[in-house]
Amino acid sequence: MSPWHCFVVALTLALSISQSSALFNRYHVYVVNGLANGTLTAHCQSKDDDLGFHYIPVNGNFMWSFRTNFLSTTLYFCHLWWAKLDAAFEVFNKDPKLRKFCGYTDCIWKAQVDGIYLSYNQKKRFEKWYNWTKV
Ligand SMILES: *[C@@H]1O[C@H](CO)[C@@H](O)[C@H](O)[C@H]1NC(C)=O
Ligand SMILES: *[C@@H]1O[C@H](CO)[C@@H](O)[C@H](O)[C@H]1NC(C)=O
Repeated sequence: MSPWHCFVVALTLALSISQSSALFNRYHVYVVNGLANGTLTAHCQSKDDDLGFHYIPVNGNFMWSFRTNFLSTTLYFCHLWWAKLDAAFEVFNKDPKLRKFCGYTDCIWKAQVDGIYLSYNQKKRFEKWYNWTKV
C-alpha cells in the first residue's frame, strides 16, 4: 500500500470507530421527585432488565445508565405512583425528539404535581410530556 492508501484506510477506520461510539452512546436516565410532598414510587424496566421498585423522597432521584444497543432499539419504560395518581410511559426509546431532549446523554424526568416533565438538553428548562392519570 502506498502511504496515501494507508492514510485513507486509517482515516476511514478512525471515522467508523468514532461513529460507532456515538451509536453506542452511554445514557443516564433520572427519575426525579419534584413533588411538593410525598414519596414517589417508581418501577422501571426494559424487556430484559427489571430495575425493581424505588421509593424516591421529595427532591431525591433514582438513576441508572446503559449503552444503547447496536440497532438502537433500547427501550425503558416506567410506572410511577404518587398519592392516588399514576403514570406509565417510555422514558427511553429511539424517538429522535426524546434523544434530543436528553442531549444524547442524560434523560431527566421530573414528576411534578401537575404531570411528568422532561428536561430539554440537560438545561433548566423542563417541558411537560405526560399527565397523571387516576389509579
Ligand atoms: C401534601 O400536599 C397536599 C396537596 O398540596 C396537601 O393536601 C397535604 O396536606 C400535604 N401533606 C403534607 C404531609 O404536607
Ligand atoms: C394534560 O391535560 C390537559 C387537560 O386535560 C391537556 O390540555 C394537556 O394537553 C395534557 N398534556 C399532556 C402533555 O398530555
